[in-house]
Amino acid sequence: MSILVTGGAGYIGSHTVVQLLEQGHQVVVLDNFSNSSRESLVRVEAITRKKLTLIEGDIRCEATLSKVFADHQFSAVIHFAGLKAVGESVAKPVMYFENNVVGTLNLVKAMSAAGVKRLVFSSSATVYGEPEQMPITELAPTGGTTNPYGTSKYMVERILQDVCRADSEWSISLLRYFNPVGAHESGLIGEDPNGIPNNLVPYVSQVAIGKLPALQVYGNDYSTPDGTGVRDYIHVVDLAKGHLRALEFLEKRTGCFVHNLGTGLGYSVLDMVKAFEAASKQEVPYTIVPRRPGDIAVCYADTTLAKQELGWEAQLGLVEMMRDTWNWQSKNPDGYKS
Ligand code: NAD
Ligand code: UD1
Repeated sequence: MSILVTGGAGYIGSHTVVQLLEQGHQVVVLDNFSNSSRESLVRVEAITRKKLTLIEGDIRCEATLSKVFADHQFSAVIHFAGLKAVGESVAKPVMYFENNVVGTLNLVKAMSAAGVKRLVFSSSATVYGEPEQMPITELAPTGGTTNPYGTSKYMVERILQDVCRADSEWSISLLRYFNPVGAHESGLIGEDPNGIPNNLVPYVSQVAIGKLPALQVYGNDYSTPDGTGVRDYIHVVDLAKGHLRALEFLEKRTGCFVHNLGTGLGYSVLDMVKAFEAASKQEVPYTIVPRRPGDIAVCYADTTLAKQELGWEAQLGLVEMMRDTWNWQSKNPDGYKS
Protein backbone atom coordinates (compact mmCIF):
# COMPACT_ATOMS: atom_id res chain seq x y z
CA MET A 1 0.00 0.00 0.00
CA SER A 2 1.01 3.62 -0.46
CA ILE A 3 0.67 5.45 2.83
CA LEU A 4 0.93 9.12 3.77
CA VAL A 5 2.48 9.52 7.22
CA THR A 6 2.07 13.03 8.65
CA GLY A 7 4.60 13.75 11.39
CA GLY A 8 6.59 10.73 10.23
CA ALA A 9 9.94 12.22 11.25
CA GLY A 10 8.90 12.36 14.91
CA TYR A 11 9.37 9.85 17.71
CA ILE A 12 6.43 7.50 17.13
CA GLY A 13 6.19 8.30 13.42
CA SER A 14 9.78 7.29 12.65
CA HIS A 15 9.35 3.95 14.43
CA THR A 16 6.10 3.34 12.54
CA VAL A 17 7.72 4.19 9.19
CA VAL A 18 10.34 1.49 9.92
CA GLN A 19 7.58 -1.07 10.36
CA LEU A 20 5.73 0.10 7.24
CA LEU A 21 8.84 -0.08 5.05
CA GLU A 22 9.78 -3.47 6.47
CA GLN A 23 6.32 -4.75 5.55
CA GLY A 24 6.81 -3.57 1.97
CA HIS A 25 4.59 -0.45 1.99
CA GLN A 26 5.46 2.72 0.08
CA VAL A 27 5.73 5.65 2.45
CA VAL A 28 5.43 9.39 1.92
CA VAL A 29 6.29 11.45 5.01
CA LEU A 30 4.89 14.97 5.39
CA ASP A 31 6.58 16.86 8.23
CA ASN A 32 7.42 20.49 8.99
CA PHE A 33 10.29 19.46 11.33
CA SER A 34 8.94 21.68 14.10
CA ASN A 35 9.86 18.97 16.59
CA SER A 36 12.12 16.64 14.62
CA SER A 37 14.95 16.51 12.13
CA ARG A 38 15.65 14.99 8.71
CA GLU A 39 18.29 12.82 10.36
CA SER A 40 15.66 10.52 11.88
CA LEU A 41 14.47 9.62 8.38
CA VAL A 42 18.02 9.14 7.10
CA ARG A 43 18.40 6.60 9.90
CA VAL A 44 15.03 4.98 9.13
CA GLU A 45 16.36 4.33 5.62
CA ALA A 46 19.60 2.95 7.07
CA ILE A 47 17.70 0.54 9.35
CA THR A 48 15.36 -0.72 6.64
CA ARG A 49 17.66 -0.30 3.58
CA LYS A 50 14.58 1.07 1.84
CA LYS A 51 13.71 4.50 0.47
CA LEU A 52 10.86 6.75 1.47
CA THR A 53 9.56 9.99 -0.03
CA LEU A 54 9.93 13.07 2.14
CA ILE A 55 7.89 16.25 1.74
CA GLU A 56 8.72 19.17 3.99
CA GLY A 57 5.41 20.89 4.62
CA ASP A 58 2.82 21.93 7.15
CA ILE A 59 -0.65 20.46 7.67
CA ARG A 60 -1.87 23.98 8.50
CA CYS A 61 -1.34 24.86 4.82
CA GLU A 62 -4.26 23.71 2.66
CA ALA A 63 -2.35 24.31 -0.61
CA THR A 64 0.45 21.99 0.56
CA LEU A 65 -2.03 19.25 1.37
CA SER A 66 -3.86 19.61 -1.97
CA LYS A 67 -0.56 19.27 -3.81
CA VAL A 68 0.48 16.21 -1.77
CA PHE A 69 -2.78 14.45 -2.66
CA ALA A 70 -2.62 15.59 -6.30
CA ASP A 71 0.92 14.24 -6.69
CA HIS A 72 0.37 10.85 -5.00
CA GLN A 73 -2.28 8.15 -4.77
CA PHE A 74 -2.64 6.92 -1.22
CA SER A 75 -4.54 3.96 0.20
CA ALA A 76 -4.49 5.41 3.71
CA VAL A 77 -3.09 8.11 5.99
CA ILE A 78 -1.48 7.73 9.40
CA HIS A 79 -1.72 11.08 11.14
CA PHE A 80 0.93 11.78 13.79
CA ALA A 81 1.57 15.47 13.05
CA GLY A 82 0.75 17.63 16.03
CA LEU A 83 2.13 19.36 19.08
CA LYS A 84 2.28 17.40 22.33
CA ALA A 85 3.78 19.39 25.23
CA VAL A 86 1.15 19.80 27.93
CA GLY A 87 2.72 22.81 29.68
CA GLU A 88 3.32 24.65 26.40
CA SER A 89 -0.31 24.03 25.42
CA VAL A 90 -1.46 25.85 28.56
CA ALA A 91 0.71 28.85 27.63
CA LYS A 92 -0.10 28.77 23.88
CA PRO A 93 -3.58 27.27 23.46
CA VAL A 94 -4.27 28.90 20.08
CA MET A 95 -1.10 27.42 18.62
CA TYR A 96 -2.14 23.97 19.87
CA PHE A 97 -5.70 24.15 18.53
CA GLU A 98 -4.43 25.47 15.21
CA ASN A 99 -1.88 22.68 14.75
CA ASN A 100 -3.84 19.80 16.18
CA VAL A 101 -7.44 20.68 15.32
CA VAL A 102 -7.25 22.99 12.28
CA GLY A 103 -4.38 20.90 10.88
CA THR A 104 -6.51 17.75 11.15
CA LEU A 105 -9.52 19.49 9.57
CA ASN A 106 -7.33 20.51 6.64
CA LEU A 107 -6.10 16.96 6.30
CA VAL A 108 -9.62 15.53 6.34
CA LYS A 109 -10.75 18.04 3.70
CA ALA A 110 -7.82 17.19 1.43
CA MET A 111 -8.40 13.45 1.94
CA SER A 112 -12.08 13.81 1.16
CA ALA A 113 -11.40 15.80 -2.00
CA ALA A 114 -8.95 13.11 -3.14
CA GLY A 115 -11.30 10.26 -2.21
CA VAL A 116 -8.88 8.84 0.37
CA LYS A 117 -11.06 7.89 3.32
CA ARG A 118 -8.95 5.61 5.50
CA LEU A 119 -7.22 7.25 8.46
CA VAL A 120 -5.36 6.20 11.60
CA PHE A 121 -5.19 8.98 14.20
CA SER A 122 -2.80 9.38 17.16
CA SER A 123 -5.03 9.96 20.13
CA SER A 124 -4.06 9.67 23.76
CA ALA A 125 -5.19 8.23 27.07
CA THR A 126 -5.35 11.87 28.11
CA VAL A 127 -8.88 12.01 26.57
CA TYR A 128 -10.09 9.98 29.59
CA GLY A 129 -9.29 12.92 31.88
CA GLU A 130 -9.45 11.68 35.46
CA PRO A 131 -10.71 8.12 35.01
CA GLU A 132 -13.01 6.64 37.64
CA GLN A 133 -12.09 2.99 37.11
CA MET A 134 -8.94 1.02 36.40
CA PRO A 135 -8.08 -0.54 34.06
CA ILE A 136 -9.52 1.98 31.57
CA THR A 137 -11.73 0.51 28.87
CA GLU A 138 -12.62 2.30 25.65
CA LEU A 139 -16.13 2.80 27.06
CA ALA A 140 -14.90 5.00 29.92
CA PRO A 141 -16.14 8.60 29.73
CA THR A 142 -13.98 11.00 27.74
CA GLY A 143 -13.69 14.76 27.61
CA GLY A 144 -12.74 15.72 31.17
CA THR A 145 -9.44 17.01 29.85
CA THR A 146 -7.40 19.40 31.95
CA ASN A 147 -5.23 21.19 29.38
CA PRO A 148 -5.49 22.43 25.77
CA TYR A 149 -3.34 19.57 24.45
CA GLY A 150 -5.74 16.98 25.88
CA THR A 151 -8.74 18.99 24.74
CA SER A 152 -7.34 19.17 21.19
CA LYS A 153 -7.10 15.36 21.08
CA TYR A 154 -10.65 15.04 22.41
CA MET A 155 -11.95 17.58 19.87
CA VAL A 156 -10.30 15.76 16.98
CA GLU A 157 -11.79 12.45 18.14
CA ARG A 158 -15.27 14.03 18.15
CA ILE A 159 -14.74 15.59 14.72
CA LEU A 160 -13.59 12.28 13.22
CA GLN A 161 -16.54 10.42 14.73
CA ASP A 162 -18.89 12.96 13.12
CA VAL A 163 -17.09 12.63 9.78
CA CYS A 164 -17.77 8.87 9.86
CA ARG A 165 -21.41 9.43 10.81
CA ALA A 166 -21.92 11.83 7.92
CA ASP A 167 -20.17 9.75 5.25
CA SER A 168 -20.29 5.97 5.49
CA GLU A 169 -17.31 5.56 3.15
CA TRP A 170 -14.81 6.64 5.82
CA SER A 171 -12.92 4.18 7.97
CA ILE A 172 -11.07 5.75 10.88
CA SER A 173 -9.06 4.30 13.74
CA LEU A 174 -8.60 6.36 16.90
CA LEU A 175 -5.63 4.89 18.76
CA ARG A 176 -5.41 5.99 22.37
CA TYR A 177 -1.77 5.63 23.35
CA PHE A 178 -0.75 5.18 26.96
CA ASN A 179 2.88 6.15 27.77
CA PRO A 180 5.24 5.43 24.87
CA VAL A 181 8.89 4.83 25.84
CA GLY A 182 11.94 2.99 24.49
CA ALA A 183 13.58 3.09 21.09
CA HIS A 184 14.39 0.90 18.11
CA GLU A 185 16.78 -1.87 19.16
CA SER A 186 19.43 -0.61 16.71
CA GLY A 187 19.87 2.54 18.83
CA LEU A 188 19.67 4.59 15.62
CA ILE A 189 16.27 6.20 16.27
CA GLY A 190 14.61 7.22 19.52
CA GLU A 191 13.01 10.08 21.39
CA ASP A 192 14.89 13.39 21.06
CA PRO A 193 13.09 15.98 23.19
CA ASN A 194 13.77 19.68 22.72
CA GLY A 195 15.33 21.22 25.83
CA ILE A 196 14.61 19.79 29.27
CA PRO A 197 12.29 16.78 28.95
CA ASN A 198 8.80 16.93 30.49
CA ASN A 199 8.21 13.19 30.48
CA LEU A 200 9.62 10.75 32.99
CA VAL A 201 11.72 8.36 30.92
CA PRO A 202 13.58 10.94 28.80
CA TYR A 203 14.27 12.87 32.02
CA VAL A 204 15.60 9.78 33.81
CA SER A 205 17.84 8.90 30.87
CA GLN A 206 19.34 12.39 30.83
CA VAL A 207 20.05 12.08 34.55
CA ALA A 208 21.72 8.71 33.96
CA ILE A 209 23.93 10.13 31.18
CA GLY A 210 24.92 13.03 33.44
CA LYS A 211 23.20 15.87 31.56
CA LEU A 212 20.79 16.56 34.43
CA PRO A 213 21.72 16.31 38.12
CA ALA A 214 18.70 14.54 39.61
CA LEU A 215 15.11 13.51 38.95
CA GLN A 216 12.33 15.34 40.75
CA VAL A 217 9.70 12.77 41.68
CA TYR A 218 6.35 14.56 41.58
CA GLY A 219 4.77 13.41 44.81
CA ASN A 220 5.01 10.28 46.96
CA ASP A 221 1.66 10.70 48.69
CA TYR A 222 -0.64 9.17 46.06
CA SER A 223 -2.67 6.13 47.06
CA THR A 224 -0.40 3.75 45.17
CA PRO A 225 1.85 0.97 46.57
CA ASP A 226 4.89 3.27 46.97
CA GLY A 227 3.05 6.60 46.88
CA THR A 228 4.35 7.64 43.44
CA GLY A 229 2.29 7.89 40.24
CA VAL A 230 1.53 4.71 38.29
CA ARG A 231 1.42 4.59 34.46
CA ASP A 232 1.13 2.10 31.62
CA TYR A 233 4.44 2.38 29.76
CA ILE A 234 4.50 0.84 26.30
CA HIS A 235 7.50 0.14 24.08
CA VAL A 236 7.39 2.40 21.01
CA VAL A 237 8.10 -0.55 18.69
CA ASP A 238 5.02 -2.37 20.01
CA LEU A 239 3.06 0.84 19.57
CA ALA A 240 4.32 1.23 15.99
CA LYS A 241 3.21 -2.31 15.16
CA GLY A 242 -0.26 -1.47 16.50
CA HIS A 243 -0.63 1.03 13.63
CA LEU A 244 -0.10 -1.67 11.02
CA ARG A 245 -2.73 -3.84 12.69
CA ALA A 246 -5.12 -0.89 12.73
CA LEU A 247 -4.55 -0.34 8.98
CA GLU A 248 -5.30 -4.00 8.29
CA PHE A 249 -8.40 -3.80 10.47
CA LEU A 250 -9.69 -0.77 8.55
CA GLU A 251 -9.22 -2.49 5.18
CA LYS A 252 -12.20 -4.70 5.87
CA ARG A 253 -14.66 -2.18 7.34
CA THR A 254 -15.99 1.35 7.45
CA GLY A 255 -16.85 3.47 10.50
CA CYS A 256 -14.94 4.95 13.41
CA PHE A 257 -13.16 2.61 15.84
CA VAL A 258 -11.40 3.28 19.14
CA HIS A 259 -8.61 1.18 20.64
CA ASN A 260 -6.38 1.55 23.67
CA LEU A 261 -2.72 0.83 22.96
CA GLY A 262 -1.06 -0.01 26.26
CA THR A 263 0.29 -3.08 28.03
CA GLY A 264 -2.33 -3.28 30.76
CA LEU A 265 0.41 -3.09 33.41
CA GLY A 266 1.08 -0.18 35.74
CA TYR A 267 4.53 0.81 37.04
CA SER A 268 5.31 3.52 39.58
CA VAL A 269 7.89 6.28 39.16
CA LEU A 270 10.20 4.46 41.58
CA ASP A 271 9.72 1.15 39.70
CA MET A 272 10.86 2.98 36.59
CA VAL A 273 13.90 4.48 38.31
CA LYS A 274 14.97 1.05 39.60
CA ALA A 275 14.45 -0.60 36.22
CA PHE A 276 16.45 2.14 34.51
CA GLU A 277 19.30 1.83 37.01
CA ALA A 278 19.41 -1.91 36.39
CA ALA A 279 19.46 -1.49 32.59
CA SER A 280 22.02 1.32 32.51
CA LYS A 281 24.14 0.32 35.51
CA GLN A 282 24.08 4.05 36.37
CA GLU A 283 22.76 5.62 39.52
CA VAL A 284 19.70 7.85 39.09
CA PRO A 285 19.59 10.28 42.05
CA TYR A 286 16.17 11.68 42.85
CA THR A 287 14.37 13.98 45.26
CA ILE A 288 10.71 13.97 46.19
CA VAL A 289 8.97 17.23 45.33
CA PRO A 290 5.28 18.26 45.42
CA ARG A 291 2.78 16.78 42.97
CA ARG A 292 2.68 18.20 39.43
CA PRO A 293 -0.63 20.00 38.85
CA GLY A 294 -2.93 18.02 36.55
CA ASP A 295 -1.31 14.62 37.28
CA ILE A 296 -3.46 11.66 38.19
CA ALA A 297 -2.46 8.88 40.60
CA VAL A 298 -2.92 5.83 38.39
CA CYS A 299 -3.52 5.21 34.69
CA TYR A 300 -3.38 1.89 32.85
CA ALA A 301 -5.22 0.34 29.97
CA ASP A 302 -7.68 -2.47 29.55
CA THR A 303 -6.15 -4.02 26.44
CA THR A 304 -8.88 -6.59 25.70
CA LEU A 305 -10.41 -4.79 22.72
CA ALA A 306 -7.14 -4.30 20.85
CA LYS A 307 -6.37 -7.99 21.39
CA GLN A 308 -9.81 -9.10 20.16
CA GLU A 309 -10.29 -6.71 17.25
CA LEU A 310 -6.77 -5.87 16.06
CA GLY A 311 -5.10 -9.12 17.09
CA TRP A 312 -2.48 -6.88 18.67
CA GLU A 313 -0.80 -7.20 22.03
CA ALA A 314 2.37 -5.63 23.43
CA GLN A 315 5.28 -8.10 23.33
CA LEU A 316 8.05 -6.11 25.01
CA GLY A 317 8.33 -5.61 28.76
CA LEU A 318 9.96 -3.13 31.11
CA VAL A 319 13.42 -4.68 30.71
CA GLU A 320 13.36 -4.14 26.92
CA MET A 321 11.89 -0.63 27.31
CA MET A 322 14.72 0.45 29.61
CA ARG A 323 17.44 -1.44 27.72
CA ASP A 324 16.48 0.21 24.44
CA THR A 325 16.08 3.66 25.96
CA TRP A 326 19.56 3.41 27.43
CA ASN A 327 21.02 2.02 24.19
CA TRP A 328 19.62 5.03 22.27
CA GLN A 329 20.59 7.58 24.96
CA SER A 330 24.14 6.29 25.43
CA LYS A 331 24.82 6.08 21.67
CA ASN A 332 23.24 9.52 21.04
CA PRO A 333 23.81 11.64 24.16
CA ASP A 334 22.68 14.75 22.26
CA GLY A 335 19.96 13.01 20.27
CA TYR A 336 20.15 13.46 16.50
CA LYS A 337 22.67 16.27 17.00
CA SER A 338 25.21 13.78 18.41
P1 NAD B 1 6.80 14.17 17.93
O1 NAD B 1 6.76 15.60 18.27
O2 NAD B 1 8.09 13.45 18.04
O3 NAD B 1 6.25 13.96 16.43
C1 NAD B 1 5.28 14.80 15.85
C2 NAD B 1 5.79 15.17 14.46
O4 NAD B 1 4.84 16.02 13.84
C3 NAD B 1 7.12 15.93 14.50
O5 NAD B 1 8.01 15.37 13.57
C4 NAD B 1 6.74 17.36 14.11
O6 NAD B 1 7.79 18.03 13.45
C5 NAD B 1 5.53 17.10 13.22
N1 NAD B 1 4.58 18.24 13.16
C6 NAD B 1 4.07 18.94 14.19
N2 NAD B 1 3.22 19.87 13.74
C7 NAD B 1 3.18 19.75 12.39
C8 NAD B 1 2.50 20.43 11.36
N3 NAD B 1 1.68 21.44 11.62
N4 NAD B 1 2.70 20.04 10.08
C9 NAD B 1 3.54 19.01 9.78
N5 NAD B 1 4.22 18.34 10.74
C10 NAD B 1 4.03 18.70 12.01
O7 NAD B 1 5.67 13.43 18.79
P2 NAD B 1 5.38 11.89 18.98
O8 NAD B 1 5.68 11.53 20.37
O9 NAD B 1 5.96 11.11 17.89
O10 NAD B 1 3.79 11.93 18.86
C11 NAD B 1 3.13 11.66 17.64
C12 NAD B 1 1.63 11.87 17.85
O11 NAD B 1 1.18 11.02 18.89
C13 NAD B 1 1.26 13.30 18.27
O12 NAD B 1 0.04 13.64 17.63
C14 NAD B 1 1.06 13.18 19.76
O13 NAD B 1 0.15 14.11 20.25
C15 NAD B 1 0.50 11.77 19.88
N6 NAD B 1 0.74 11.17 21.20
C16 NAD B 1 2.01 11.12 21.69
C17 NAD B 1 2.23 10.57 22.95
C18 NAD B 1 3.63 10.53 23.54
O14 NAD B 1 3.77 10.35 24.72
N7 NAD B 1 4.70 10.63 22.75
C19 NAD B 1 1.16 10.08 23.71
C20 NAD B 1 -0.12 10.14 23.16
C21 NAD B 1 -0.31 10.69 21.90
C1 UD1 C 1 2.03 13.18 30.20
C2 UD1 C 1 0.96 14.20 29.87
C3 UD1 C 1 -0.08 13.54 28.99
C4 UD1 C 1 0.58 12.93 27.76
C5 UD1 C 1 1.66 11.94 28.22
C6 UD1 C 1 2.41 11.31 27.11
C7 UD1 C 1 0.93 15.75 31.77
C8 UD1 C 1 0.17 16.25 32.93
N1 UD1 C 1 0.39 14.71 31.10
O1 UD1 C 1 1.44 12.11 30.87
O2 UD1 C 1 -1.05 14.48 28.58
O3 UD1 C 1 -0.38 12.25 26.96
O4 UD1 C 1 2.60 12.66 29.03
O5 UD1 C 1 3.18 12.27 26.44
O6 UD1 C 1 1.99 16.28 31.43
N2 UD1 C 1 7.15 12.28 36.71
C9 UD1 C 1 8.02 12.62 37.71
N3 UD1 C 1 9.07 13.45 37.41
C10 UD1 C 1 9.28 13.94 36.16
C11 UD1 C 1 8.39 13.57 35.12
C12 UD1 C 1 7.33 12.75 35.44
O7 UD1 C 1 7.86 12.21 38.85
O8 UD1 C 1 10.25 14.70 35.95
C13 UD1 C 1 6.03 11.35 37.01
C14 UD1 C 1 4.65 11.95 36.77
O9 UD1 C 1 4.17 12.59 37.91
C15 UD1 C 1 3.85 10.69 36.40
C16 UD1 C 1 4.88 9.79 35.71
O10 UD1 C 1 6.16 10.26 36.13
O11 UD1 C 1 3.41 10.03 37.56
C17 UD1 C 1 4.81 9.85 34.19
O12 UD1 C 1 4.89 11.20 33.77
P1 UD1 C 1 4.98 11.61 32.22
O13 UD1 C 1 6.04 10.83 31.55
O14 UD1 C 1 5.09 13.10 32.16
O15 UD1 C 1 3.60 11.12 31.60
P2 UD1 C 1 2.10 11.42 32.09
O16 UD1 C 1 2.06 12.36 33.21
O17 UD1 C 1 1.43 10.11 32.25
